[in-house]
Amino acid sequence: MQITGTENGPYLVETGGRVSIDGETKEMPRLALCRCGASDNKPFCSGAHKAAGFEAPAVTIEIEG
Ligand code: FES
Repeated sequence: MQITGTENGPYLVETGGRVSIDGETKEMPRLALCRCGASDNKPFCSGAHKAAGFEAPAVTIEIEG
């Protein structure tokens, strides 16, 4: 699995299809998770990082195993 932290933006997770969130299954091939703390739709990115002036470098995390 790979998690990508976009420059000045959210973490992107490629799920490949459906995910279960608090027991509810949804079709979400890609998740954008907030890493700035400003989203009004946590844990998802709402785009608020832009107005918040969030700055962070891009990062790629590979999860092995
Ligand atoms: S990263 Fe987009 S709202 Fe936080």
